[in-house]
Amino acid sequence: MTNEFYHSDIISIKDLSRTHFDQIFAATDRIMELSPERRRNLCRGRVLGSLFYEPSTRTRLSFDAAIASMGGSSLGISDVSSSSIHKGESLADTVRMMSIYSDVLVLRHALDGSSRFASEVSSKSVINAGSGTEEHPTQAIQDLYTLRREKGRIDGLKIGIIGDLKYGRTVYSLLYGLGNYDVDVRLISPESLRIRSDSVYEIKKRLDFSESTDISEHIDELDVLYVTRIQKERFPDVEEYIKVKGSYVVGLDLLGQMKKDAIIMHPLPRVDEISSDVDDTPHARYFKQAEYGMYARAALLNLILNQDVRPG
Ligand code: NCD
Repeated sequence: MTNEFYHSDIISIKDLSRTHFDQIFAATDRIMELSPERRRNLCRGRVLGSLFYEPSTRTRLSFDAAIASMGGSSLGISDVSSSSIHKGESLADTVRMMSIYSDVLVLRHALDGSSRFASEVSSKSVINAGSGTEEHPTQAIQDLYTLRREKGRIDGLKIGIIGDLKYGRTVYSLLYGLGNYDVDVRLISPESLRIRSDSVYEIKKRLDFSESTDISEHIDELDVLYVTRIQKERFPDVEEYIKVKGSYVVGLDLLGQMKKDAIIMHPLPRVDEISSDVDDTPHARYFKQAEYGMYARAALLNLILNQDVRPG
């Protein structure tokens, strides 16, 4: 089987099929099974260039850790004020430079369309690490991988997605990704944070979902509760944020109503939407999910950088 990921861009989860996911999952399984010594040979001497115009902890560090674990290195900009971006350098010029210094680029930017644009000017593969409110495809890959590992399957799951469905880009990538599977999705949010109407049409073509504002309607039947942060920084008006802040808090009381084997996921960072006493319960999988993210990103980098990797 040829490696279709070799030298490709990862811009939107919509560009990937179920077969692609199977290939990335199998590659991730293999990376996890390799000894550290063997992993260190996979991308020896390769350079990952990261451009983070927005804050990040897990995404940036997991890409750094992933390339380092495969013998490569990373360089990048995570503090825009200390780079020439601060002097007014354009995204296009910054990306062009970065594609000279590195073998693969990872970009996070506040604008929708930023990664697609970067891929057009870059001579190297571009991976979207979050583009505005639009998408966060590698997060969705890690989320789907987590479902498969922690629930043993994706088909047949009842999945509740709760929180900020309007501005949360992880939600859109996850929904587009889930559109490849036979799942039952319940969207739960305050009225003002329902999924954007311009995306509903597209999501409906691929997925069955219902919408509600009340988690208690669904809690006892869910296999998975995917919790998201209210994206304060994306609200045009802080007053609107204050109205919905703290709308849902997942605590032990709610866990008591869940199926015994239901799991709780969250792309992180969490602010106050999951209370910390949930962390020690067997339902919590968000830290495991973050760990899988590092391996899934390593698998993806390996596929993009090396033609002879067996996909799937
Ligand atoms: C998410 C993001 O940046 O969209 N973070 C992440 O990469 N895990 C979610 C968030 O910021 O709430």
